[in-house]
Amino acid sequence: MHLPLCGVRLSKSHGARFFFLCFVFWGCVAMRRGKLIFGCITLIFTLATGTNPHASATAQDKQDALIKRGDYLVNNVGRCAECHTARKANGELDNAKHLQGSPTWFAPNPGIKFKKWDKSAPDLTQSGRAGKWTEERLVKFLSTGEQANAPMPAYKMTLEDAQAVTAYLRSLPGTKKKGVEE
Ligand code: HEC
Repeated sequence: MHLPLCGVRLSKSHGARFFFLCFVFWGCVAMRRGKLIFGCITLIFTLATGTNPHASATAQDKQDALIKRGDYLVNNVGRCAECHTARKANGELDNAKHLQGSPTWFAPNPGIKFKKWDKSAPDLTQSGRAGKWTEERLVKFLSTGEQANAPMPAYKMTLEDAQAVTAYLRSLPGTKKKGVEE
């Protein structure tokens, strides 16, 4: 809900909205009955407190949306797990160890000499890069593609996408959830 005059947005929750409107109504009635100061105080207090729950709800909503987009980019587009998740003996991804690092399961054709070829892909969760690198460092790595050694693809994501991927990786506890440190 938007009040154009005051430029405030109200909480999405119906309960909060109901009480907010009751207080606004009460404030207006008080003002009409001549209790101007009492009415003003009620209105100011209501507007001040009524906008706060929404402010935090919006920040949380935005963060949730960012993580959801990161989830999509990591798991449906970039398919980071193909290299960063360990595999079971039958070659399937071991989803219990999602993005917690893995030895590289393929090797270059003997005729191709890479300057640098990494034999393992690191843990990307809170127990690995997402916990140890700053947000800025991860975003830079994913948006510039600089310093990615084969077979890590040199992703050149937009800043928004790199931020979403970073937010998603930071939301994964990795081995920290079991209380196991690297
Ligand atoms: C084809 C395999 C492959 C895929 C797919 C892949 N990676 Fe990697 N990644 C690697 C390897 C191997 C390394 C180690 C080499 C290196 O550090 O550059 C690595 C390293 C990294 C590092 C650490 C870089 C460093 O300098 O320590 C990050 C962060 C990373 N990958 C993120 C991702 C993300 C996010 C995705 C998906 C969007 C992804 N990777 C997809 C293979 C892969």
